[in-house]
Parts: sequence; C-alpha cells; structure tokens
Amino acid sequence: MLRLGVNIDHVATLRQARRTAYPSLVEAAAACERAGAHGITIHLREDRRHIQDADVYALRKTLAVHLNLEMANHPDIVAVALDVRPEEVCLVPERREELTTEGGLDVAGQLDELAPVVAALRDAGVCVSLFIDPDLRQVEAAAALGVPYVELHTGAYAERAGEARERELARLVAAAARAHEVGLTVNAGHGLSLDNVGPVLGLPHLDTLNIGHSIVCHAVFVGLERAVRAMLEKMGM
Ligand code: PXP
Repeated sequence: MLRLGVNIDHVATLRQARRTAYPSLVEAAAACERAGAHGITIHLREDRRHIQDADVYALRKTLAVHLNLEMANHPDIVAVALDVRPEEVCLVPERREELTTEGGLDVAGQLDELAPVVAALRDAGVCVSLFIDPDLRQVEAAAALGVPYVELHTGAYAERAGEARERELARLVAAAARAHEVGLTVNAGHGLSLDNVGPVLGLPHLDTLNIGHSIVCHAVFVGLERAVRAMLEKMGM
C-alpha cells in the first residue's frame, strides 16, 4: 500500500518567522495523523532555520505514526538522531545557502564517509534512507552500503515540463525498478503537488511519498477563510 509522509517543516518556518510559540508542530502533526497521514517527516537543518531540536523530541514523544528525520551527515545532528531514535533517518545533502535540498546525496562518491553513520544508526535500531537522484550509479551505491531504503529525488521531475519532464519520469521509473531489484524499499519526494503527483503514482514498487511544501501552502487556502471568520466572530461581527 502506498503511504504518505507529510513534511511539516514549513509549519515551523511560520513559527520561526516570529519566534512565537505557535503554530504548534505537535498540533500540526496530530492534524496530519487525523487526516490519515502514515508518517511525519521533519528536516533538522544545521542552521535550525525551521525545525528545532525540541521539536524532534516533542514529536518523538507524541507521534503515533512513523517519524522520518531528514538530516545531513553532521556530527551534532547525528548525535540528536542517535538520542531520539526515530523510526527512519533520511540522509540528505545540505548547503547552508540553499533554499531547500537541491540535489541528491552523492552516495557513490561518499561511501567512506557514509558507512560509519549508516552503521551507527542501524545499530541504534533506526532504518536509514538515502535521498538520491534517480541515477542508477547512486542506486547501486546505496545497495552496496546496505541501507534498507532510498528516497528518489523528484525535484527535477517537478521543475521541468513537457518532454523534459517525461525524461525525468523515465529516470525515476528506471531507478525505482533497479532499487527494488537490489532489495531497496523505494520512497520518493520533493516538489510534489496535487498538480504533478499523478504520474509519480505510477512509479513501480513505490512505498512512501514524502510531501511538504505544497500541502502546507494548500492548507493556507483551505483554512484562511475560517481563520478570518473566527477573528471577526471574536470581534463581535
Ligand atoms: N524529501 C526530502 C528528502 C526532502 O528534503 C524534502 C524537503 O525537505 C521533501 C521530501 C519534501 O519536499 P517538498 O517540501 O518540496 O514537498
């Protein structure tokens, strides 16, 4: 059965814009759970621009569903992961100046750096996923590292149109098929929305889609009218 992991980073972005106590990440995650989400995904970035360490601990305590912690291979973040022990850690590349995760992890080029962290997380009982571009060389490298999951980066697919998008979809299909052949569970995500997710649902052997930004954006419009009405009511109107 295909599953949805909802990435709630941008609920934290709203909170951090004012350094307020609201909106609550725990409440946001609970709303996703009530809606039927199968998991919650958060990215603890090195610069802590949205998710904070306290969020990771709070969600670990309160979530009924699967917690997927996205993170770079940095020692202080790895230490948090080893302490919190989420069900899943997705290792991603990270550059401070980027707006969002721009490309997949170069697993083939970083086998030596990744092997110890993958082993430490596995020994702590955490399932490790590697966020990779839909590139067969990276799929083989992930299999060589012995991780259970890969997450295929759908960003290039999402950004392109027409034939270029079709080519990206074909790369995703080939990568998903090969990942399954070599024993990896296949997740995918990044840049997916109601408008572009359709063809991605046809990827072979797909286990989980991790989707965040477009869902939080859509939530603004699903909820804005109610929020204004609530304030007007408070004002006696
Ligand atoms: N998967 C990974 C590994 C990511 O880094 C992100 C963004 O944090 C997502 C999925 C979700 O992407 P989006 O917010 O564009 O839906």
